[in-house]
Amino acid sequence: MDFSPDFLKKNLQKLEDRLLGKIHKRIEPIQKLMSYYRCALMGVETKFKVLNEEFSFLHERNPIESIKTRIKDFESIRKKLRQRRLPITIDSIEKNIHDVAGIRVICPFIDDIYMLADCLLCQDDITLLERKDYIAQPKESGYRSLHLIIEIPIFLHDKKRYMKVEIQLRTIAMDFWANLEHRLRYKKDIDKELVKKISAELIECAETSASLDLRMKNIRDDIENKR
Ligand code: GTP
Ligand code: MG
Repeated sequence: MDFSPDFLKKNLQKLEDRLLGKIHKRIEPIQKLMSYYRCALMGVETKFKVLNEEFSFLHERNPIESIKTRIKDFESIRKKLRQRRLPITIDSIEKNIHDVAGIRVICPFIDDIYMLADCLLCQDDITLLERKDYIAQPKESGYRSLHLIIEIPIFLHDKKRYMKVEIQLRTIAMDFWANLEHRLRYKKDIDKELVKKISAELIECAETSASLDLRMKNIRDDIENKR
């Protein structure tokens, strides 16, 4: 056997190349899929921006305060699939994980949310797969938002591909509550009694925040003489 440094170095390099090749082969389809999801997000974001632009021209007011987009990281995708005992494959991600691509649209008023959702859903390239109205029926935690899972086509150089996107529409007040609730709830080492007390307090805060949304909308209606 040749154990000369030259021989070992050459073979180590070969092994490294083969390993990197294998990793690349497994990662490439996932990176491609994530890039498709990014394209889908661009498409949905543009649609909301167009609606905002048109509305602000017609009514001299923006129905969108801000837009945030995010792609779920691969570790969270893998964790979700593993928890549900589903295969970790490209097909399985596309079929089972509906929130790989997520967009959050923050609006000043509740009626902006429904107006934007209606305008988006009546566009002929958008298909609604699921609608959860946590404004009409808030979650037990007090969480409020309108959730839509939609499908949007992306046009690639040689094909059209349909991608799923999760849309969360909420008011500034709902977003403020959800962000703080998320941070507080996931703090470690809180004892059970305190969690109970905090949960009750958070539900009350959510109700206060919902009534604030309503009062602000009423003020706006008064100003616009709608009431
Ligand atoms: P997931 O497996 O988490 O996607 O659950 P799901 O498919 O039942 O979706 P759901 O409609 O419950 O909404 C999931 C997303 O909504 C979460 O990733 C959060 O962004 C948000 N969400 C849902 N419930 C709460 C809540 O109680 N508090 C906060 N802060 N956010 C929430
Ligand atoms: Mg979800």
